[in-house]
Amino acid sequence: MILIISGTDRDKSNTRKVAGYVHSLFEKHGEEAEILDLAELKPTSHGGPHYGVAAPDALAAALEKVNKADGLYMCIPEYNGSMPGALKYFVDHWKYPESFEFRPVAFCGLGGMWGGLRPVEHMQGVMGYRNSFMYPERIFVREVFKHFKDSDVPNDSILVDLFEKQVTGFIAFIKGLKAVKIDANSRRR
Ligand SMILES: Cc1cc2nc3c(=O)[nH]c(=O)nc-3n(C[C@H](O)[C@H](O)[C@H](O)COP(=O)(O)O)c2cc1C
Repeated sequence: MILIISGTDRDKSNTRKVAGYVHSLFEKHGEEAEILDLAELKPTSHGGPHYGVAAPDALAAALEKVNKADGLYMCIPEYNGSMPGALKYFVDHWKYPESFEFRPVAFCGLGGMWGGLRPVEHMQGVMGYRNSFMYPERIFVREVFKHFKDSDVPNDSILVDLFEKQVTGFIAFIKGLKAVKIDANSRRR
């Protein structure tokens, strides 16, 4: 199962829209996928922080999904030149090495002029430091409010092609790592 993380707790976010589109692509290609929407996991809903101590049910269930995922797909909007605090807060509750190490991860950034390049590269720093397998092709959606305006799919054929290529490539990447048993889930069995 691929876990798609919608990386903001802002209600009705563009990020959630992009996560929904990515979900439809995984399903189209026969890959089971689920969206973890951080808007449904606001800190107030789990009364954090719980660093290193037993987490309440809502947070524990979300952390368990990360630990079981064959791959993570992170949709990350740019907030003030970086990732949203809600996303970093969630990631800071992950367990090392279980949640991170050898776990395949792909990225999509969203923002204004730079399409979320900065938050994706900041998160790549985090995931690289924690030894994840990062899929090299990233997608940056500039002016997301235009590209997904009144639509659940991008109204730009270049973006459609990029998403298609990235999603199918990421599925193959995960299968390849699994075949030689070096992904996080194979190593921990
Ligand atoms: C608190 C906040 C800070 C933001 N900071 C930036 C920024 O630094 N650079 C940028 O290009 N866009 C910025 N944006 C715009 C978002 O990146 C843009 O709307 C994004 O594509 C989707 O965010 P959403 O998922 O919350 O809708 C900001 C938005 C918010 C809510």
